Amino acid sequence: MCNLAIQLFLKMSQNTHEKGKISWQSPSNIALIKYWGKHGTQLPCNPSLSMTLSASITNTSISYLKKQHADKSVVLQFYFDGKRSEVFEKRIAVYFHHIIDEFPFLSDYQFKIESSNTFPHSSGIASSASAFSALALCIMSLNEIVTGTLNKNAFYQQASQLARLGSGSAARSIFGGYTVWGQVEGMDAYSDIYARPLLSEIHPVFQSYHDAVLIVSEKNKKIGSSTGHALMEKNPFAEARYRQAMDHTLEMLQVLKTGDTEKFVKIVEQEAMTLHGLMMSSDPGYVLMKQGTIEIMDRIRDFRRKQQIPVAFTLDAGPNVHLLYPATYREMVLNFINKELLHFCNARQWIDDSIGKGPKLMNE
Ligand code: PMV
Repeated sequence: MCNLAIQLFLKMSQNTHEKGKISWQSPSNIALIKYWGKHGTQLPCNPSLSMTLSASITNTSISYLKKQHADKSVVLQFYFDGKRSEVFEKRIAVYFHHIIDEFPFLSDYQFKIESSNTFPHSSGIASSASAFSALALCIMSLNEIVTGTLNKNAFYQQASQLARLGSGSAARSIFGGYTVWGQVEGMDAYSDIYARPLLSEIHPVFQSYHDAVLIVSEKNKKIGSSTGHALMEKNPFAEARYRQAMDHTLEMLQVLKTGDTEKFVKIVEQEAMTLHGLMMSSDPGYVLMKQGTIEIMDRIRDFRRKQQIPVAFTLDAGPNVHLLYPATYREMVLNFINKELLHFCNARQWIDDSIGKGPKLMNE
């Protein structure tokens, strides 16, 4: 390249680094094996395994503009659904400070972050999972632009690690299908540091699974998951729980391979009941289930018994019920939801979700 061409190239790349916008879309996930209890820098006390969703999504974009005067401060504005939110702004600023040693460019620019969800915020749907995975992916893309380094293989692994630091469950949303986060006995592949997609093959029955999210209440949770995780430190059943989660993970890995839907139902429901049992047995104990939650769980069990269909319920840290079922039974299940479950839902709201392929870059 001649001198002039090199100078032109450098000028152009400098300009592209001055300002721009990056957007990612990232889904929520539903944990089949629950992460509940953490230590150190957001490391899990047990492995968790989840199914990535397709309809419950966060869209996030970061507009960046190079600061005129470089200083060490983090400058950002955060807009949720078009409205500025100082609560989220503070949380993200803390997050940026936490990762700034690894991503020093975060203090070289000022940022405008715009985010929106396709599902009600704080509805017990893991909004922090889709939110922090989308944000982490935007930061990873920015890092590529600013530093000019490209490593396709490491990209998603690093994004998962970065998402984990924002919210543990977000580490799993970086990948589609079924995802494992946390060390699993006898397996080197899975790590506490980042999540990764399931190594083994998935039986066809689990390749097209559905999740009907029944919104019992949209109200903010009384106790957030950070407090819940912290309460596990003194929970008298903690050790037994971590052992159970390890056993359930090992069993679930087999179940997903063999297609054993009966065992799937058993493990998934036990996980949901244990999660809420742990909340109740914490000090102070608390209950996040509502009357509607219990009514729906009872009806799902009755329906399963009568129809001999492997429908299962699970719960996140909230009152809403996730009804998991294989695609083959869709019509019957939709009828059942309409006839028997919707009157327990807030304003008959539910989300028709299913297994998804993972995040998408929205601009190239
Ligand atoms: O990612 P956090 O810190 O919001 O914790 C999520 C915990 C559960 O949703 C209850 C379980 C899980 O594994 O997603």
